[in-house]
Amino acid sequence: MKTTLAFDVYGTLIDTNGVVAALQKLINNEAESFSQTWRDKQLEYSFRRSLMQNYENFAVCTSQALDYTCAFHKVSLTNEQKAELLGIYRVLPAFNDVKEGLTRLKTAGFRLYAFSNGKADALEMLLNTAGIRNLFLDIVSVDDIKTFKPSTGTYCHFLRKAQAMGYNAWLISSNPFDVIGAISAGMKSAWLRRSPEEIFDPWGIDPSITVSSLLDLADKINEHSL
Ligand code: 2OP
Repeated sequence: MKTTLAFDVYGTLIDTNGVVAALQKLINNEAESFSQTWRDKQLEYSFRRSLMQNYENFAVCTSQALDYTCAFHKVSLTNEQKAELLGIYRVLPAFNDVKEGLTRLKTAGFRLYAFSNGKADALEMLLNTAGIRNLFLDIVSVDDIKTFKPSTGTYCHFLRKAQAMGYNAWLISSNPFDVIGAISAGMKSAWLRRSPEEIFDPWGIDPSITVSSLLDLADKINEHSL
């Protein structure tokens, strides 16, 4: 039976720091810390909305997180500037190893899906812009069930949509919360640790495998399955 791979999108395939260049033009030195606060708040808002069962889609979390980040960093942006930044968020670049890594995995016979907190239309646009949409069998969005990863139901939703079983389906993510969420829901999971600076949460729930690049993924999954 072919193995199914569910790829997280933001931060795993697509580099959310792609907004830094645009931010540098607006706020110079603080661009990197502004980008980090924005990303952290976006995720926090999605977690809180899941817990509160008060769903608004990921684009709303991103936009509200931008407003918070402006207030936190005492940066005043016009509505046009905010719209420009949100526009860039819809066409962020893929990391360097993504196209080649996914192509190798597809050629090796894995079933590839994109699986994300983003809405399907935003994901279609991102993956098309990055030139990788055609490598996936389908895109699965948590928006279908109105909650966010790492709610257990999102991983079950993925398995149903992909017609896969947890023991033969992997979540591939750079986000430790996502890896822990998938394993807790009965999937296997690879933590994509592109930088040795990245830290995994010490919960005692470890990734099935850890890779530093998507180029190593096929070999590591095959070794794990032996
Ligand atoms: C995603 O694409 C959580 O950012 C992550 O779902």
